[in-house]
Amino acid sequence: MITRMARPTQIAPSILTADFGQLAAAVAEAEAGGADLIHLDVMDGRFVPNITFGPGVVAAVRRATSLSLDVHLMVEEPERYIDAFAQAGATGMTVHLEATRHLHRTVQQIVEAGCRAGIALNPSTPIEALREISPFVDLVLVMSVNPGFGGQQFIQTSTSKLRRVRKLLDEFNPTCDLEVDGGVAAHNIGDVVRSGANVIVVGSAVYNEERSVEENLALLRLAAESRE
Ligand code: DX5
Ligand code: ZN
Repeated sequence: MITRMARPTQIAPSILTADFGQLAAAVAEAEAGGADLIHLDVMDGRFVPNITFGPGVVAAVRRATSLSLDVHLMVEEPERYIDAFAQAGATGMTVHLEATRHLHRTVQQIVEAGCRAGIALNPSTPIEALREISPFVDLVLVMSVNPGFGGQQFIQTSTSKLRRVRKLLDEFNPTCDLEVDGGVAAHNIGDVVRSGANVIVVGSAVYNEERSVEENLALLRLAAESRE
C-alpha cells in the first residue's frame, strides 16, 4: 500500500501581474501576507510568445525578500542560463522538458549550481515523459494553462493530470513536490490541493485591483484548507 505523505500547502505568488515599477514593495507585501515562496516567470519570446525578464530582476527580488525564489524558466535551451540565475539568487529552477534536448544533463546542472531542480510539463505533454527523469528532481510543475501570460483560464483536465502525476511520483519519487501553475484562484485552489498539488502558483488572484495582496492571500489560504 502506498502511504501518502502529508505535505503542507505552499502558496507561491507569481509577480507577473504585479506592478513592475514597485516590484520590491509587491514582493514585500506577499511576504508580509504569508506567501511561502516567490514565483518568477522568465520568458524568452521563443519558447513562449512573451518576454519578461532575466537574472537582473531575479537579483533585485533576491534583495527584496528572504523567501525562497522559485524561478520558472519558459525559455528555449535553459541550460545556457542556469549559472546566471543561480548567481542571481534562485533557490530553485524549473525547466520545461519540451525546451531542452538533454533533460537529465540540464537537471544535473541545476543541482550542481546548488539549486532545487524542477521540471515543467505543458498542458499537452503526456505524463509518461516524467517516468525516467522523476527520481532526479525535487519538483514537478504541471501547467494548467499554456505558458506565456497571466490571467488565463484554468484548463479543467489539469486536476486529473495532477492526480495521475502524484500517483506516478508516489511510485518513483515520493518526496517530490508537485506544483501547479495557471488559472488558480480561490474558487479552484481546493480542487488542485485535493488533486495532490502542494506548491500552488497564483498570479492574478494575488496581484489585482480587487483586493490587497494580504486579503487575497488570506482568502486563498482559507479556500486551500477547506474540505469541499
Ligand atoms: C504563465 C505563468 C504563470 C502565471 C500565472 O505562463 O507561468 O506563473 O503568472 O498567472 P495566473 O495565476 O494569473 O494564471
Ligand atoms: Zn510560472
